[in-house]
Amino acid sequence: MKNLMLLALAMGSMLAFAGPIEDEIVARIHKIGDVCLVGEACASGQLAADAGAQSDAQSPEAIYNRSCNTCHEMGIAGAPKLGDIDQWAPRLDKGMDVLYASGINGLAPGMPARGMCFDCSDDDIRAVVDYMTASVQ
Ligand code: HEC
Repeated sequence: MKNLMLLALAMGSMLAFAGPIEDEIVARIHKIGDVCLVGEACASGQLAADAGAQSDAQSPEAIYNRSCNTCHEMGIAGAPKLGDIDQWAPRLDKGMDVLYASGINGLAPGMPARGMCFDCSDDDIRAVVDYMTASVQ
């Protein structure tokens, strides 16, 4: 009997909370379901959040880890390894412009154009090449 009373009490308090929780859920769903046109005040928060995510995803380190790391971490197919001064020295001698061009256009036979980062701009690739060469300077 005592257990039943406790159960009833517990259910009672759950019911008491149902109101505010439901309101909160409705408010959350409403936020997601809202139609927000670009340029409207309600859209700016989301756009700012997207822009933040974008720049993180396109940071030189993030691009390196996503696209270049596959070959350049282990030295696959003769790719100069990140941080390996001996392997990078003859490449650094070519000058940064040549290295940028190799990053953007690829270098036969092993280095694919843009290191297979298809959403990378030329500037993104230059920044990653800077990141890679900084590891040996
Ligand atoms: C599929 C493997 C692979 C991926 C992915 C890859 N590379 Fe390479 N990379 C190579 C190989 C192999 C070489 C050496 C090419 C050679 O000298 O024949 C190389 C060489 C380079 C060089 C030196 C070029 C030169 O002129 O000496 C740079 C710079 C470079 N990669 C940048 C990048 C960047 C930046 C990324 C990612 C956006 C990337 N690579 C992704 C395989 C790869």
